Amino acid sequence: MRITIAEAGKHVGEAVEIAGWLYNLRSGGKICFPQVRDGSGIIQCVAVKSALPEELFESLKHLTQESSLIVRGKIRAEARAAGGYEMDLESAEIVQRVPESDPYPITPKEHGIDFLMDHRHLWLRSRRQHSALLVRHEVIKAIRDYFDSHGFILVDTPIFTPAACEGTTTLFEVDYFEDEKVYLAQSGQLYGEATAAAFGKTYCFGPVFRAEKSKTRRHLTEFWMVEPEMAYADLEDVKHVGEELILHVIGRVLENRREDLKILERDVSKLEAVKAPFHRMTYDQAVEKLKSKGSEIQWGSDLGNTDETLVTEDLDRPVMIDRYPAAVKAFYFAPAPDRPDVALGVDFIAPEGYGEIIGGGQRIHELDLLLKRLEEHKLPREAFEWYLDLRKYGSVPHAGFGMGVERFVAWMCGLEHVRETTAFPRMIYRTKP
Ligand code: 4AD
Ligand code: MG
Repeated sequence: MRITIAEAGKHVGEAVEIAGWLYNLRSGGKICFPQVRDGSGIIQCVAVKSALPEELFESLKHLTQESSLIVRGKIRAEARAAGGYEMDLESAEIVQRVPESDPYPITPKEHGIDFLMDHRHLWLRSRRQHSALLVRHEVIKAIRDYFDSHGFILVDTPIFTPAACEGTTTLFEVDYFEDEKVYLAQSGQLYGEATAAAFGKTYCFGPVFRAEKSKTRRHLTEFWMVEPEMAYADLEDVKHVGEELILHVIGRVLENRREDLKILERDVSKLEAVKAPFHRMTYDQAVEKLKSKGSEIQWGSDLGNTDETLVTEDLDRPVMIDRYPAAVKAFYFAPAPDRPDVALGVDFIAPEGYGEIIGGGQRIHELDLLLKRLEEHKLPREAFEWYLDLRKYGSVPHAGFGMGVERFVAWMCGLEHVRETTAFPRMIYRTKP
């Protein structure tokens, strides 16, 4: 019977078959220990010369790293083995032998990051990379479960879009048919506002694109964002849902991915410390705090990466900073009624230098004000006619936010750079493999 390595514990004493790749090999004279990985785990096999046909033993003994093979034998509990089990090899079939003349390029020795990134299609097989992507899988599943069980309907939004959402300077332009230009979506939000008016509470979850020529460790040109949008909701609802969502996802990662966090050498006490209530401060207070810590920030400018790191330096959980100057925020933010120079927007800044993981807030729902903002931001009204309709036909206060998957996963895994949180990252100088 074919099993996966993860299922080995349920088959102790049974003769089974495992199909995988050679991860590592130790060999002595009359015995060798091929370690096989199959994507679900790694198991050590014990191959004894006297128990196997001579030809098979010899070819196993000299098998090359990442050759594909199928092994058969009995599973035995072995406390000293990494996964807790070993297989006593009875037979094996080599599916493809990696030639000695052209060996698997990634060896246990140190490789530079460019080399590893050029070999990303193979690097994914390495343990740390494998674990980071398993954490990503958990994060995405937990996000979906959270929204699905809290009354949100998934309504995905288009990627080819006629207009900007987050500002015109960071758009990727695409040649569409008949000389038409479209842009790759920076955010699904504007469409989310339409779906929220149709369904009440919705979310979209897909890839978005940003063309700024940034080279920071938090920036990808293509990343995944989950964007909930709620009708009859305000800034406080955004804070509440964002906090609940983050706690839910961290809980699930701690529950189901401890082994992977261990492989990633993540200090899990840092994640366990993240509890409600998160810290809250206004932008004004954040600027004061930053100045007192030596930042050169002036009221009116956005927080840079170093400011975000500085502002959370003494905190063990995220901070929600709200009421940013309206001038640094996108056109759609509702102004504070008591102080129109600040926007009813909030950013969640993660601790440990992971930066902004959530951005969102309350939207303008009055037609006149929205028209004024489109003009101020020099956005073409024609492209937004449908969006303006939402302010004509049953307009209500509404709010939502976006959370970037890669930054969240980097935080969970304790990774220095977002490039390792997605299988094939896209960055300014990286479009291959
Ligand atoms: O703050 P942003 O730009 O917000 C929006 O796009 C809103 N329209 C979302 C909404 O309200 N529906 O992006 C939201 C989040 C950030 O907090 C960050 O986690 C992530 O998306 N993000 C990036 N992640 C990786 N690389 C980039 N270049 C990112 N830009 C934003
Ligand atoms: Mg933002």
